[in-house]
Amino acid sequence: MSTIGQSTNRIDAMAKVTGTARYPGDLNRPGQLHMKILFAGLPHARIRRLDTTRAEQYPGVVAVFTAKDVPNNEYGLGVFDQPVLCGPGSEKVGANVVRFVGDQVALVVAESEKAAAAARGLIEVDYEDLPVVTDPRASMQPGALRLFPDRENVLAHYRIRKGDVEAAWAGCDAVVEGEYHTPMQEHAYLQPEAGLAYIDEHGRVTVEVAGQWAHEDQEQIAHALGLPREQVRVIYPAIGGAFGGREDMSVQIVLALAVWRLAQRGVLHPVKIIWSREESIVGHHKRHQFFIRAKWGAKRDGCLVAAEVEVISDAGAYAYTSTKVLGNATLMCTGPYVFPNARVDAYTVYTNNVPGGAFRGFGGPQGAFAAELQLEKLAEKLGLDPIEMRMKNVLVDGALSTVGTPFPKGVTIDKVVARCAAEAGWQPGKGLPAPSSTAAPWLKRGRGFACAFKNIGFSFGAAEACEARVELHGDGRIERVVVYHAGADVGQGAHTVMSQMAAEAAGVPVSRVELVASDTASSGTSGSASASRLTFMSGNAIRGAVARALQNWQDEERPAAASYTYHPPATTPLDPETGYSNPNFAYGYVAEAVEVEVDVETGHVRLVDVICADDVGRAINPRQVEGQIEGAVVQAAGYAILENFIVKDGHVLTPFLSNYLIPTVLDVPERVKSLILEYAEPNGPFGARGMAEMPYLPLAPAIAAAIHAATGLWIDEFPYTPDRVLTRLRAAEAG
Ligand code: MOS
Repeated sequence: MSTIGQSTNRIDAMAKVTGTARYPGDLNRPGQLHMKILFAGLPHARIRRLDTTRAEQYPGVVAVFTAKDVPNNEYGLGVFDQPVLCGPGSEKVGANVVRFVGDQVALVVAESEKAAAAARGLIEVDYEDLPVVTDPRASMQPGALRLFPDRENVLAHYRIRKGDVEAAWAGCDAVVEGEYHTPMQEHAYLQPEAGLAYIDEHGRVTVEVAGQWAHEDQEQIAHALGLPREQVRVIYPAIGGAFGGREDMSVQIVLALAVWRLAQRGVLHPVKIIWSREESIVGHHKRHQFFIRAKWGAKRDGCLVAAEVEVISDAGAYAYTSTKVLGNATLMCTGPYVFPNARVDAYTVYTNNVPGGAFRGFGGPQGAFAAELQLEKLAEKLGLDPIEMRMKNVLVDGALSTVGTPFPKGVTIDKVVARCAAEAGWQPGKGLPAPSSTAAPWLKRGRGFACAFKNIGFSFGAAEACEARVELHGDGRIERVVVYHAGADVGQGAHTVMSQMAAEAAGVPVSRVELVASDTASSGTSGSASASRLTFMSGNAIRGAVARALQNWQDEERPAAASYTYHPPATTPLDPETGYSNPNFAYGYVAEAVEVEVDVETGHVRLVDVICADDVGRAINPRQVEGQIEGAVVQAAGYAILENFIVKDGHVLTPFLSNYLIPTVLDVPERVKSLILEYAEPNGPFGARGMAEMPYLPLAPAIAAAIHAATGLWIDEFPYTPDRVLTRLRAAEAG
């Protein structure tokens, strides 16, 4: 029986529900020491003097490390712009400046957490405050305060130039202009950053930690420590959520640095760290806030003619994944629609805020918010049904996207929109049905709709690769399939679908598959568990490796072993002048219909009902797909309605889960209806596309449209907290 398409139990389910699963914070080794990190606490300052003498003398303290202890005091996923430790004594240009409150200044290693924390308080730092810039729109102006001596504040500027936008406005019957702001968001994963480092039996600097790409962590640790990669080992035990928030380094390099420096002094003790929730919220990046200005025009019949969009994202103090996120937003700020004329200028800009970085959707939710509201407003202005207008304009196979090329074959946004609309009761000429009635006159309900696409993989010319190694054990028949794979199961269930795909390829039940995962010592690189890419990439790699191993099995090799590295179709970066490119090798398509309830007396918005249609290509494990849909919907509902990340002058005012509210079970909509569509992706393993981000993208604009339907208001910035909604309702009443 086929294992693909079966909702087999997660291979980690038992360990997680019984509490035996080991997360980094659960790991202990005899003789371990404890580490605390001194954070800057200031958004922009020059360190004039750093004195660790008193801390070093504190009872129980084993060592204190600062910038002078870091051989290559720099790191970063794309750009090495961040010091590992800020302060004097390293060769890194500008390392003596802190650029956001979470910059790390010193490490204290002690026999107990308590001693480490107490000694941390004895480190003396003289700071010279520097002016602070927190608005990317100000930071990108000529003459603005520069964050780096050797870099411009504008980290990237992408352009799209298609057709002739200026000439096109004259041919439009309706033009809509809008200004949108999308907020920062905290990942709020279950497990704050933690890890354990030690020197392993082969003398390798080893870090057990939660991340998204073990080989990238290994690479960055090796770079900072000036070690050959083989001297560094990264292992992921159970990971308590990631959502993009573990894409960049947090405790990886500093843990490695501490055990390595201690070993040089003959101290061979493991070192452990666990961040508090407050350290986690201040210390790792946030979803980028975006400022988007859009002008769209259409013909009377609803045909889109032209789009002009300016996109500005707040990179915060360091680059992280800002350029990748910006690339997606550049592509997605015009929605899944055909535009004969398009002009996009997209910028990501350094500021003294907490860095912006990867977060589920990767620039897609921000772009989709502006695009879908523009579409809705244009339809309203033309007196057209917005769903019909979408159907008229969506991309189809062969149609040229804004970057001048068609999307890879298998574009299904038309089918996805139609299926979602039908499920919501939409009818041509009639639109969406009226919302269900409410219990009280002050509760107004409305329905909204939105759609989007999401690329699979980082791409935009980035080399994508994924390696798998497989051993087939047995004699007459295959008794055991051992799969070596580095891919991270961040909680999404990747290891379960990898096992299913290996079983399918080898023609054995899933119970005969054994996965050896997430250790750089036993696997080649998988690439990141992000960008909805891991099922697609790991499936192709595993399929390739199993095919080769089966060949060896035929040749009587026992065990029959083989490796395979999968490379997807090549992509290209945006042309710097026109944006012309083939940016991605695959996409998934999604549409959502929602019903919300607005309390017009208090401003409370409640998400009542969600229908989510996703073309996932092939659901390897349908129940896990539903889990991703429901999880993404709830997380996106938090983003749209509840989560209010407040930064003032570079200081985080919401570093606690008591003042940064995230959804609980009581905030889950009454119904989330998953419509899993399976139009095979030609290059996908068993047809799978990748889908973990998709359901996130259209939710905020669908909620905005539903609030509009309920109240008549377009609210172009969120979260839709009661104060924001009530302020707008009162202003509208006042006329
Ligand atoms: Mo995620 S934002 O694709 O790590």
